[in-house]
Amino acid sequence: MIVLLAPEARKRTTRLHLDGDPPPTVVVGDPSKLMQILTNLTINAAQAMPDGGTVTCSIETRRVEPPGAEGLPERDYVCIHVQDGGTGIRRADLDHIFDTFFTTKTADEGSGLGLAVSSRIAREHGGWIGVITEEGQGSTFTVYLPATGAPAQA
Ligand SMILES: Nc1ncnc2c1ncn2[C@@H]1O[C@H](COP(=O)(O)OP(=O)(O)O)[C@@H](O)[C@H]1O
Ligand SMILES: [Mg+2]
Repeated sequence: MIVLLAPEARKRTTRLHLDGDPPPTVVVGDPSKLMQILTNLTINAAQAMPDGGTVTCSIETRRVEPPGAEGLPERDYVCIHVQDGGTGIRRADLDHIFDTFFTTKTADEGSGLGLAVSSRIAREHGGWIGVITEEGQGSTFTVYLPATGAPAQA
Protein backbone atom coordinates (compact mmCIF):
# COMPACT_ATOMS: atom_id res chain seq x y z
CA MET A 1 0.00 0.00 0.00
CA ILE A 2 2.78 2.41 0.96
CA VAL A 3 4.58 1.63 -2.30
CA LEU A 4 1.42 2.18 -4.35
CA LEU A 5 0.35 5.41 -2.65
CA ALA A 6 3.73 7.08 -2.13
CA PRO A 7 3.87 8.73 -5.59
CA GLU A 8 0.36 10.16 -5.14
CA ALA A 9 1.34 11.46 -1.71
CA ARG A 10 4.49 13.11 -3.07
CA LYS A 11 2.41 15.02 -5.63
CA ARG A 12 0.73 16.59 -2.61
CA THR A 13 4.08 17.37 -0.93
CA THR A 14 3.21 14.75 1.64
CA ARG A 15 5.48 12.04 2.90
CA LEU A 16 3.96 8.63 3.52
CA HIS A 17 5.68 6.70 6.25
CA LEU A 18 5.18 3.21 7.66
CA ASP A 19 5.95 3.25 11.36
CA GLY A 20 8.04 0.42 12.76
CA ASP A 21 8.39 -3.02 11.24
CA PRO A 22 4.94 -4.58 11.56
CA PRO A 23 4.83 -8.37 11.80
CA PRO A 24 3.15 -10.20 8.89
CA THR A 25 -0.55 -9.68 9.52
CA VAL A 26 -3.44 -11.44 7.79
CA VAL A 27 -6.99 -10.24 7.34
CA VAL A 28 -9.63 -11.96 5.24
CA GLY A 29 -11.27 -9.71 2.70
CA ASP A 30 -11.42 -8.12 -0.71
CA PRO A 31 -7.95 -6.62 -1.31
CA SER A 32 -9.15 -3.94 -3.72
CA LYS A 33 -11.87 -2.79 -1.33
CA LEU A 34 -9.47 -2.69 1.61
CA MET A 35 -7.03 -0.76 -0.57
CA GLN A 36 -9.87 1.66 -1.34
CA ILE A 37 -10.26 2.41 2.38
CA LEU A 38 -6.55 3.11 2.79
CA THR A 39 -6.47 5.24 -0.35
CA ASN A 40 -9.37 7.35 0.93
CA LEU A 41 -7.82 7.77 4.37
CA THR A 42 -4.43 8.67 2.90
CA ILE A 43 -5.84 11.27 0.50
CA ASN A 44 -7.90 12.81 3.30
CA ALA A 45 -4.79 12.95 5.49
CA ALA A 46 -2.80 14.65 2.72
CA GLN A 47 -5.62 17.12 2.02
CA ALA A 48 -5.72 18.01 5.72
CA MET A 49 -2.10 19.20 5.43
CA PRO A 50 -2.18 21.77 2.62
CA ASP A 51 1.40 22.85 3.37
CA GLY A 52 2.64 19.26 3.31
CA GLY A 53 3.70 16.98 6.11
CA THR A 54 3.94 13.34 7.01
CA VAL A 55 1.21 10.72 6.97
CA THR A 56 2.22 7.92 9.31
CA CYS A 57 0.69 4.48 8.97
CA SER A 58 1.08 1.77 11.57
CA ILE A 59 -0.39 -1.63 12.21
CA GLU A 60 -1.01 -3.51 15.44
CA THR A 61 -3.20 -6.41 16.53
CA ARG A 62 -4.89 -6.24 19.91
CA ARG A 63 -8.02 -7.18 21.78
CA VAL A 64 -10.63 -4.44 21.35
CA GLU A 65 -14.10 -3.93 22.70
CA PRO A 66 -15.90 -2.26 19.77
CA PRO A 67 -18.02 0.84 20.41
CA GLY A 68 -21.51 -0.32 21.43
CA ALA A 69 -23.17 1.09 18.30
CA GLU A 70 -21.18 -1.29 16.09
CA GLY A 71 -22.83 -4.38 17.58
CA LEU A 72 -19.61 -6.36 17.18
CA PRO A 73 -17.95 -8.81 19.56
CA GLU A 74 -14.89 -8.12 21.71
CA ARG A 75 -12.01 -9.99 20.09
CA ASP A 76 -8.61 -9.51 18.45
CA TYR A 77 -8.69 -6.85 15.75
CA VAL A 78 -6.03 -5.75 13.31
CA CYS A 79 -5.81 -1.98 13.77
CA ILE A 80 -4.48 0.05 10.84
CA HIS A 81 -3.75 3.62 11.91
CA VAL A 82 -3.44 6.50 9.44
CA GLN A 83 -2.20 9.57 11.27
CA ASP A 84 -1.78 13.14 10.03
CA GLY A 85 -0.67 16.39 11.62
CA GLY A 86 -3.26 18.40 9.73
CA THR A 87 -6.22 20.64 10.49
CA GLY A 88 -8.08 18.20 12.70
CA ILE A 89 -11.88 18.01 12.63
CA ARG A 90 -14.23 20.51 14.24
CA ARG A 91 -16.42 19.03 16.95
CA ALA A 92 -19.56 20.08 15.07
CA ASP A 93 -18.40 18.18 11.97
CA LEU A 94 -17.33 15.05 13.82
CA ASP A 95 -20.85 13.60 14.01
CA HIS A 96 -21.25 13.91 10.23
CA ILE A 97 -17.96 12.91 8.61
CA PHE A 98 -19.16 9.37 7.86
CA ASP A 99 -22.43 10.63 6.30
CA THR A 100 -22.84 10.21 2.55
CA PHE A 101 -22.06 13.50 0.73
CA PHE A 102 -20.84 15.28 3.87
CA THR A 103 -17.84 17.35 2.86
CA THR A 104 -16.10 20.52 4.01
CA LYS A 105 -14.18 20.72 0.72
CA THR A 106 -14.80 22.45 -2.57
CA ALA A 107 -16.51 20.43 -5.29
CA ASP A 108 -13.26 19.71 -7.15
CA GLU A 109 -11.50 18.53 -3.97
CA GLY A 110 -14.11 16.36 -2.30
CA SER A 111 -17.35 14.52 -2.90
CA GLY A 112 -18.15 13.50 0.65
CA LEU A 113 -18.13 9.85 -0.38
CA GLY A 114 -14.74 8.65 0.87
CA LEU A 115 -15.55 7.97 4.51
CA ALA A 116 -19.12 6.81 3.83
CA VAL A 117 -17.89 4.19 1.37
CA SER A 118 -14.91 3.29 3.54
CA SER A 119 -17.00 2.69 6.64
CA ARG A 120 -19.42 0.54 4.63
CA ILE A 121 -16.51 -1.58 3.39
CA ALA A 122 -15.12 -1.91 6.92
CA ARG A 123 -18.54 -3.05 8.17
CA GLU A 124 -18.79 -5.59 5.32
CA HIS A 125 -15.54 -7.04 6.65
CA GLY A 126 -16.77 -7.30 10.24
CA GLY A 127 -14.97 -4.15 11.33
CA TRP A 128 -15.37 -0.39 11.59
CA ILE A 129 -13.45 2.88 11.36
CA GLY A 130 -12.66 5.02 14.38
CA VAL A 131 -11.20 8.51 14.62
CA ILE A 132 -9.34 10.53 17.21
CA THR A 133 -8.84 14.17 16.32
CA GLU A 134 -7.77 17.48 17.83
CA GLU A 135 -8.47 20.77 16.09
CA GLY A 136 -5.26 22.29 14.81
CA GLN A 137 -3.28 19.20 15.83
CA GLY A 138 -4.29 16.45 13.43
CA SER A 139 -6.28 13.25 13.19
CA THR A 140 -5.77 9.53 13.45
CA PHE A 141 -8.19 7.31 11.59
CA THR A 142 -8.09 3.63 12.52
CA VAL A 143 -9.49 0.76 10.47
CA TYR A 144 -10.43 -2.19 12.69
CA LEU A 145 -10.65 -5.59 11.00
CA PRO A 146 -11.12 -9.00 12.64
CA ALA A 147 -7.75 -10.70 13.14
CA THR A 148 -7.69 -14.16 11.64
CA GLY A 149 -4.54 -15.44 13.32
CA ALA A 150 -1.24 -16.56 11.87
CA PRO A 151 -0.70 -16.61 8.11
CA ALA A 152 -1.07 -20.01 6.47
CA GLN A 153 2.28 -21.73 5.86
CA ALA A 154 3.16 -22.19 2.19
N1 LIG B 1 -7.73 13.40 7.94
C1 LIG B 1 -8.68 14.35 8.03
N2 LIG B 1 -8.41 15.56 8.59
C2 LIG B 1 -9.37 16.51 8.69
N3 LIG B 1 -10.63 16.36 8.25
C3 LIG B 1 -10.96 15.19 7.67
C4 LIG B 1 -10.01 14.12 7.53
N4 LIG B 1 -10.64 13.08 6.94
C5 LIG B 1 -11.90 13.47 6.72
N5 LIG B 1 -12.11 14.73 7.16
C6 LIG B 1 -13.37 15.49 7.11
O1 LIG B 1 -14.42 14.58 6.79
C7 LIG B 1 -15.10 15.03 5.62
C8 LIG B 1 -15.61 13.83 4.84
O2 LIG B 1 -14.52 13.07 4.31
P1 LIG B 1 -14.77 12.17 3.03
O3 LIG B 1 -15.97 11.32 3.27
O4 LIG B 1 -13.50 11.50 2.66
O5 LIG B 1 -15.21 13.22 1.92
P2 LIG B 1 -14.32 14.29 1.12
O6 LIG B 1 -12.87 13.98 1.39
O7 LIG B 1 -14.68 14.06 -0.31
O8 LIG B 1 -14.75 15.62 1.66
C9 LIG B 1 -14.08 15.88 4.89
O9 LIG B 1 -14.68 16.82 4.02
C10 LIG B 1 -13.36 16.56 6.06
O10 LIG B 1 -14.12 17.65 6.56
MG1 LIG C 1 -12.09 12.05 1.14
